[in-house]
Amino acid sequence: MAYIDETTINAIRRKHPIKEIVERYVSLTKKGEDYWGLCPFHADNNASMSVSPRLDMFQCFACKKAGNVFNFIALMENISYGDAIRLLAKEDGYEIGRSIQKEDPHIKDYEIFKLAMKYYQNNIYSKLGENAILYLRDRKIDRETIQKFEIGLSISKQPLTPFLLNKYPLDNLIDLGISNTDGKDIFNDRIMIPIHDMNGNPIGFGGRIYQTKDSSKYINTKATELFDKGTILYNYHRAHNKLTKDESIIVMEGYFDVIRASTIGVNNCVAPMGTSLTKQHIQILKKITNHIILCFDGDEAGKQATIRAIPLLEQANMDVKIVRLEEKDPDEFIIKRGREAFLQKIANPLNALDFKMQVLGEDKNLNDTKEASIYIDELLQELAKEKDEILVELTLKKIANRFQMEYETLNQRFIKYQLKQKSIQKTNNPNIKKEQKTPNKYGQATNNLLYYMIISANVMEQAESQVMMIMDNKKRRLFNEIIYYYHKYGELVVADFITYLTTKTDVIDTFWEIMNQNLKKTYSNEEIVDYIKCVNDYYKKNIIDKLKLDLKKETDPMKQANILKEIMKIRGVKTSD
Ligand code: CTP
Ligand code: MN
Repeated sequence: MAYIDETTINAIRRKHPIKEIVERYVSLTKKGEDYWGLCPFHADNNASMSVSPRLDMFQCFACKKAGNVFNFIALMENISYGDAIRLLAKEDGYEIGRSIQKEDPHIKDYEIFKLAMKYYQNNIYSKLGENAILYLRDRKIDRETIQKFEIGLSISKQPLTPFLLNKYPLDNLIDLGISNTDGKDIFNDRIMIPIHDMNGNPIGFGGRIYQTKDSSKYINTKATELFDKGTILYNYHRAHNKLTKDESIIVMEGYFDVIRASTIGVNNCVAPMGTSLTKQHIQILKKITNHIILCFDGDEAGKQATIRAIPLLEQANMDVKIVRLEEKDPDEFIIKRGREAFLQKIANPLNALDFKMQVLGEDKNLNDTKEASIYIDELLQELAKEKDEILVELTLKKIANRFQMEYETLNQRFIKYQLKQKSIQKTNNPNIKKEQKTPNKYGQATNNLLYYMIISANVMEQAESQVMMIMDNKKRRLFNEIIYYYHKYGELVVADFITYLTTKTDVIDTFWEIMNQNLKKTYSNEEIVDYIKCVNDYYKKNIIDKLKLDLKKETDPMKQANILKEIMKIRGVKTSD
């Protein structure tokens, strides 16, 4: 589809209710809240096509053609989606010019950044760039890496602004954070690291000093319409393309951590560039994976950043793991200890609970009885928030072992905290408590849940907070797109969501699969609770299958017994202890 911005498309769509458009071609009869008519896209004698004013879409349950007004017109007139938009726009008196609208409104800005990047890259390879290359070589950044990350150099004697002014007005350069109002460069004698948006468009720079003792080690592009640190993750566009199914994204603190990791073949790293991980960052990450490894700096600040990030990721139902480093940052760790040591680290991350256990114990003298008892209490309170029963049991055993306590004593105290936690959750969400029966098909439960998430914000919120994991990759992507869309726009208008998905070919098919189920539009809370339980049960079943595999591989009878116990625990079978 030629590019027309989404806001414009949605505004045009709102002016043309689906019923009015369809009625130009087909006569409709009202049944319930929907209208029905003969489907014009196949030989229909059954009135198989429904038109829903509520969802502002049409849908044929026989031939499966469905969509919003634009899809309908495109099919009727045998034109493209983009042309259907133009056709309706024209009726409203707008002329959406083909040439302009083919482009993203920021396409010129990206061009400017691309040119600036080129210029900086030329600089670094010029005579005046020798010291910068030496600096990078000292940091063990070779030419290949410089090229891969498109690293360049700003040189005050060879300013960028006059060069760009040949082609672009100063106002433009000021708005983009490249030049100041005097027509001078913002970046002077700094190593220039280009920063891209989610789609890989260049939108800013991080500039590092390399030979002077400037007060600020980095200068980044100021906040602009394109560059918003809260929603940008350094290296996302490269990491995203490299990510294989079910692989984790590793979140680091800085540019050079990410760059260093890539030199040892670890390409799935991103960095929030000195700010905390925000909810928006997390929504963006969630589009591509549910698995996050936090690998922040080894210092106190890194620890605090990890502590802040964990609950946000957990609230978004992400699977969080943590790597703690015995060096300043990943960059130094890899330089000092090498590739194998780092790969070991990320292959054996801590789960959030183990991390909390470590952190809670760090400022205490655990040989002191009083401090140890405070520690255990804090730990149990944290543990009470944990959903994963296996993890809980294992952790309780660990604590019992470590402090040579009776498991039962510990468990009693734990249950107390768990009840407290449950009552907190209940007041926050009264729907959790109901006992549920299990529908027989997990896939159907997932489909139904996705459908009601699409048509109801309440269901969406409920699913976001309660679904542990959707196992099917395509459906998980749709699940995440629904939540992302909801967070971005504050609501989900189905007909607009269709426009949003039009360019996401891998998700739109799943979307139609869900919409074409011909489900009733009303639902009860019990049903939703059932679907969520069923989806979660399936996830648990998958954990059990994994444990069974572990069991097969395990030769130590003690460990075998433990795995068996875990399996029974997940299945809800009581064991002797
Ligand atoms: N940062 C920034 N401005 C600063 C300091 C830091 O924007 N004055 C951001 C950068 O994105 C930086 C990240 O925060 O990469 C982490 O900061 P820090 O750990 O101080 O820098 P390093 O990544 O270790 O940088 P270097 O290795 O180049 O010293
Ligand atoms: Mn560093």
